[in-house]
Amino acid sequence: MRRLTVPAIRDRKQDGKTEEPVVMLTAYTARQAQLLDPHCDVLLVGDSLGQVIYGLPSTIPVTLEMMANHAAAVVRGSYHSVVVVDMPFGSYEQSPEQAFDSAARLLKESGAAAVKLEGGEAMAETVSFLVNRGIPVMGHVGLTPQAVNVLGGYRARGRSDAEAEKIVADAVALEQAGAFVVVVEGVVEPIAIEVTETVSCVVIGIGASAKCDGQVLVTDDMLGMFERVPRFVKRYADMAELVSDTAAKYAEEVRARTFPGPEQTYQPKR
Ligand code: KIV
Ligand code: NA
Repeated sequence: MRRLTVPAIRDRKQDGKTEEPVVMLTAYTARQAQLLDPHCDVLLVGDSLGQVIYGLPSTIPVTLEMMANHAAAVVRGSYHSVVVVDMPFGSYEQSPEQAFDSAARLLKESGAAAVKLEGGEAMAETVSFLVNRGIPVMGHVGLTPQAVNVLGGYRARGRSDAEAEKIVADAVALEQAGAFVVVVEGVVEPIAIEVTETVSCVVIGIGASAKCDGQVLVTDDMLGMFERVPRFVKRYADMAELVSDTAAKYAEEVRARTFPGPEQTYQPKR
């Protein structure tokens, strides 16, 4: 099977309608990518790896080097999905030129096909600069975690008319700049629907609406690896309990000297 392409994702939406929703999940490691790849259209190497992998308090401290390394692992572990890598905070906001340097480095070092960046109207010039120079771009509006220090937290967006209008305007600006997907995160459902119906490019929701053109979740949240998750996360499994119970069994057997057993030990030939 040939790997899906950015145009194949873009073409899922025809005349404002998406028959088959786009399935996206985050991936940070090769093995995780291998397991998710057959079920997904897009694997996102999200800067959420700051919290999920590195235990950081937000995505702000995430570096280009971290993103490039994890993206390379995800590309090596997948052969079907389009791999998209988040541009970390501070690597693109200054100018289109800075963004191009950073995005080119990410794609060259990882083999990913596209980048994602946060922001709407303020990033439109940068998005078209990248797209015109061969770098497909996914936008991200609404609750944009890299703006946590400006927003003051991670609450849902679009509750006031001004906020709602801004989110729609941001999505339109990204579409017009040539973004192939806009991610809409943590917005009240009517605004998610309005964005999906207004822009011609694919709109992928997270904490948005089932009516979006596709969905994304942070894989570790979906797997139930964490106790505290936003309300928009559905926990499809309880991996935290599985890992913890498994470690407890192992620890018990080590302490009882019942592991390793005869099947796990080598004996000399006789
Ligand atoms: O970093 C991330 O995981 C993301 C998705 C939640 C959209 O940006
Ligand atoms: Na992100």
